Amino acid sequence: MKKIFVLDTTLRDGEQAPGNSMLAYEKTEMALQLEKLGVNVIEAGFAAASIDDAESVKQIAGVVKNATVCSLSRCKKEDIDIAYNALKNAAHARIHLFLATSPLHIKYKLQMAEEEVLKKIEESVGYARSLFKEVQFSCEDATRSDRAFLLKAIGVAIKAGATIIGLPDTVGYSYPEEIKAMFSEVVAAYPNVVFSAHCHNDLGLAVANTLAAIEAGAMQIDCTVNGIGERAGNTSLEEVILALHTRRDHFGAETDIVLRQICPTSQMLSAITGMKIPPNKPIVGKNVFLHESGIHQHGVLQNRCTYEILDPAELGIVQNNIVLGKHSGKHALTEFLESMDIKMSPSEMNELFERFKELADKKKVVTYKDIMYLLSHGHNVKTTRTYNVDSYSIATIMGSSAVAMLKLRTSDGVKVGEGVGDGPLDAAFKTINRIIGKDFLLLDWSSSAITEGEDALGAATLRLELNGKQVTGRGVSTDTVEASILAYVNACNKLLQ
Ligand code: KIV
Ligand code: ZN
Repeated sequence: MKKIFVLDTTLRDGEQAPGNSMLAYEKTEMALQLEKLGVNVIEAGFAAASIDDAESVKQIAGVVKNATVCSLSRCKKEDIDIAYNALKNAAHARIHLFLATSPLHIKYKLQMAEEEVLKKIEESVGYARSLFKEVQFSCEDATRSDRAFLLKAIGVAIKAGATIIGLPDTVGYSYPEEIKAMFSEVVAAYPNVVFSAHCHNDLGLAVANTLAAIEAGAMQIDCTVNGIGERAGNTSLEEVILALHTRRDHFGAETDIVLRQICPTSQMLSAITGMKIPPNKPIVGKNVFLHESGIHQHGVLQNRCTYEILDPAELGIVQNNIVLGKHSGKHALTEFLESMDIKMSPSEMNELFERFKELADKKKVVTYKDIMYLLSHGHNVKTTRTYNVDSYSIATIMGSSAVAMLKLRTSDGVKVGEGVGDGPLDAAFKTINRIIGKDFLLLDWSSSAITEGEDALGAATLRLELNGKQVTGRGVSTDTVEASILAYVNACNKLLQ
């Protein structure tokens, strides 16, 4: 089995898409989960892009211990210095430089001559190498580059000290045979170098192209959780990993990814960004292990492999029928977690137990799905909240306006407000704005049941804007109105941070 290294760029390329922006503490939480997932490199951001980006790369570098933490950087001394400052405390650090090599980009974007491009690569890779042991250099738009020039640029980067070379299909233009030919040629020319595939999904070919690159000798793959990213997204981590795992007979390759962390990671990202996972999304969609047709159901009951090529348990989807209730103690919860092979520190356990008790008070039975939800949505309660919902009441009369009364707790005490709106949520949201004294603007709202049954847990997700900055808020409750109010306050707190 050959070893394939995984660079996860969810927090950099993944974030570069509308609606995917994350706050620094959300990125840090996600980075810790990516480390648990077993990715080798976490591309934590583009430090020179903004002060916020530099700060979150620095925070991630401070907490991640096993994975390498990486920052993207333009071929500019100022960018390299900013990346160095953000990464200097990382246990393992990498800088990822990029410069376009295609004629289109060189002429219209860079407005440089080919010789100038080569000089810039030489200078910036050399300078980066004086600060970092690991330097990745990517030839942006590699798949549309002239092959002879591409080989020249790679040679210059390697000579200047690059240790990994990335060949992005920046606009998702290529197809598997073409990618295979490109990687075969560069690997033959530079057999001792690690080449990385970085594919975009504009034509729906990112995973196929990444697999083709592996067949041709790429030893690193760049991916994102749930395939999020610019335009149609990047190579979906879960899809490419499960393709390698399921067809290891063909690919003969393995990674360090811990399969059972795949679903929790995917759900955590969806909770943070508010971007829903389509039900038919390969690997992590909720329909992936459902069988509607009688023939399929019968087959699966006889032997799962008749209609399922993936094992849900392997992916962290536990089909566990044990239920817990409000009388279950910490011991029962610990046993329940152990049955799912989940280990926790005593303080994590205490926190989970508190939240479990809160939920068990509202729900008759707590199932493994509820617990998995509490586990993967921990970030909702770990934030330093400025405002907490103390209590509320809303009166609605059919055909008339709704009236809300809310109490929000802050470190200065309880603040009370009242408001009128077109419906219960409008009234509640207006009241929250009045109490906090800000004109938060609601852009989007949705709610969905997370678990089954009459007293199912429901999640409300909304997007809120203040002074041009947008965030996602989430709230979970057995009551939709309560979930929505919690989501709104959650988003307000994020915007106030
Ligand atoms: O798609 C791309 O070309 C990139 C580079 C900046 C590495 O993301
Ligand atoms: Zn990209």
